[in-house]
Amino acid sequence: MSRDKTIDIESLLHKDEVHRRVYTDPAIFDLEMDRLWHRTWIYVGHESQVKNPGDYFTTTIGRQPVILVRHKDGEIHVLYNRCAHKGAQLVGDNAGCVKAFRCCYHGWRFDTDGALLTIPLEGGYDNTNFCRDNPDINVKKVPRYDSYRGFVFASLSVEGPDLKTWLGGVASSIDNMVDRAPDGELEITGGVLRYTHDSNWKFFVENLNDLMHAIVTHQSSSQTARIVAKRLMDDKDAVPWAVEIFSPFTNRYSFFEEMGLHAFDYGHSYSGGKVSIHSAYSDIPGYVDALEAAYGKEKTLDIFSENRHNTIFYPSATIKGPIQTMRVVKPISVDKTVIESWTFRLKGAPEAMTQRSILYCTLINSSANLVGPDDYESYHRLQHGLASQANDWVSMHRHLGKETVDESGAIEAEGTNDIVFRNQFKAWKQYLTAEDA
Ligand code: FES
Ligand code: FE2
Repeated sequence: MSRDKTIDIESLLHKDEVHRRVYTDPAIFDLEMDRLWHRTWIYVGHESQVKNPGDYFTTTIGRQPVILVRHKDGEIHVLYNRCAHKGAQLVGDNAGCVKAFRCCYHGWRFDTDGALLTIPLEGGYDNTNFCRDNPDINVKKVPRYDSYRGFVFASLSVEGPDLKTWLGGVASSIDNMVDRAPDGELEITGGVLRYTHDSNWKFFVENLNDLMHAIVTHQSSSQTARIVAKRLMDDKDAVPWAVEIFSPFTNRYSFFEEMGLHAFDYGHSYSGGKVSIHSAYSDIPGYVDALEAAYGKEKTLDIFSENRHNTIFYPSATIKGPIQTMRVVKPISVDKTVIESWTFRLKGAPEAMTQRSILYCTLINSSANLVGPDDYESYHRLQHGLASQANDWVSMHRHLGKETVDESGAIEAEGTNDIVFRNQFKAWKQYLTAEDA
């Protein structure tokens, strides 16, 4: 562990400002890994990525490589990706299907729940700690893992709230996305977009509910789409999905204020509610019929009445329920972050719904398109700008104290309030100053 115990976390936060060191200091990044990423619930993967016994998917929890795998009894496990013999990485591929894991170094074989099956020349270990009763001969399971409606999270800490309690007010964003499937289930589809940002992970996580930036940052891409949309509508032509998707990014400030923000314990939040930039997409034939057949008219209306934009499961994941996409955050170092972008198919919905979700993902989240790279440029400039000694403090001033808090502790505010930043740093401080587990 490289933790620097001399960091005074309290001194890095004001009620409405944060010190630039939190984005630039490698010692703070180390502390974040140990106390936040290695303690809280981190998104690991979706159950549909490991549909059949033996299916596995490799990923990371903070700095720890792990394997998501379905065992032969149907149970899903999250294992450390470390051979129990001399510690070689057990699985090298991103995904696959096995009967058993066989280490590439000396051939120890493990079941898909981590239990040791066979080793070569097992007779040579007399009078040692190697025996079938020693749990250390198995691949270790991570301390806690659980699934909420198909979304698998894991925690490297034995302590802390259970997953449902931790999700709190943002569990309903998963509910709304899953309920949009007539068959009540989602499935990952269309591959993954995975690319590296040369900036701190928090810039990305903060930006998701920053409703002050879109109208400026995405001006060039979105304004062009608006001009095209207006011309097509004047000519009574249908507006293509791509234009429909780009246009709302430069809605008026009043629209973004009305979208609103909701923030919760543990740093979670979502933007949008009854309206968002996803509210005005055109109908896809057959979709409403399929939902009404599955749930009835009333529940279908109820499902469509929520139009949340980004929901943040702080710190590792974010979904856009109405368009069924997800992004996953993988911090690499203080100024390097990998972002993965995934798309879901709504089981039982017309295939065109999936096509539109994939289009959204490639138009907005791809490194080779428009909106995502607009944001990327801002994160890049933030990382470089905060190297400046001009001012140590970063603003979170806007609408301080204008939010309301209900009896459950849930916070509500108009969309341009900086409350989401302040709420994330409140949780960040709680994690980073907690006693050693
Ligand atoms: Fe895996 Fe030796 S390190 S079998
Ligand atoms: Fe953006």
